Amino acid sequence: MKGIILAGGKGTRLYPMTKVISKQLLPIYDKPMIYYPLSVLLLADISEILIISTPQDIESYERLLGNGESLGIRIEYKIQKEPRGLADAFIIGEEFIGSDNVCLILGDNIFYGQFFTSFLESARENHEGATIFGYPVKSPNEFGVVEFDQDNNVLSIEEKPEKPKSNYAVPGLYFYDKNVVEIAKSVKPSKRGELEITSINTEYLKRGMLKVVLMGRGMAWLDTGSPEGLLNAAEYVETIQARQGFYISCIEEIAWRKGFITLEQLKELGKEMDKTDYGKYILSLVEEHRK
Ligand code: TTP
Repeated sequence: MKGIILAGGKGTRLYPMTKVISKQLLPIYDKPMIYYPLSVLLLADISEILIISTPQDIESYERLLGNGESLGIRIEYKIQKEPRGLADAFIIGEEFIGSDNVCLILGDNIFYGQFFTSFLESARENHEGATIFGYPVKSPNEFGVVEFDQDNNVLSIEEKPEKPKSNYAVPGLYFYDKNVVEIAKSVKPSKRGELEITSINTEYLKRGMLKVVLMGRGMAWLDTGSPEGLLNAAEYVETIQARQGFYISCIEEIAWRKGFITLEQLKELGKEMDKTDYGKYILSLVEEHRK
């Protein structure tokens, strides 16, 4: 399975912060925002990843993450000239996806919580069709909203509805089979001029091939699109890390736990940052393991 991180967009809700820097490079407490979605793909055991961003920002991502070798994975980069919508990711990524299944994650989505890895596993197990997630929210009308029956079969999916049919929003994490590329190419731009991900999901629904995995209230799905959301996410990460001593979305740790890199490689990565708590955390993992 391949993975795509969509890290373009204009970030207008974060102006002036994002006037000259891509939103997904802004820090969430102690690491760049893109580490969070990248860690989700690693947790899903995905080691072939495409990062899509704007013509002016793509080089910064390349400087940050390189070809992925240091994490034992492969990272490719592609430009999205204009923010034409989320479904555009599959048109830009056509060659990269080839005939594989693919997982798309939005660069500004943060997930954390117990059983998350098992949610990812159940989405991966669905080899045919599409799997989206449902997450309970207070104001569903601000999101894509999914309605489902007792057996979690999707009944409808609507983008920012005035009268939501459930209080389950669809987070920016989607699993598709290889047909997604053809479907994306046939999608017509919406009234706001974008190739909507909801149009793709509606097509899978029509084919009877759309599943929803429900995330419970024990999961955190955080929004980082506004200054308040950015601060709240940073505070959340700081609070959990300080309390538990475990780091949220430490990509080096996950790469090691997943077996993409060795303990020796992990140590080298830690040494590069040994002046920071982040680097010290990585080195402490090495010490712990050797005990
Ligand atoms: P949005 O939050 O919809 O857009 P944005 O990031 O440009 O923010 P704003 O509303 O403040 O202008 O995008 C969600 C995520 O998807 C975000 O990580 C940017 C990314 N994205 C793209 O990379 N390309 C696109 O065409 C769109 C629509 C979004």
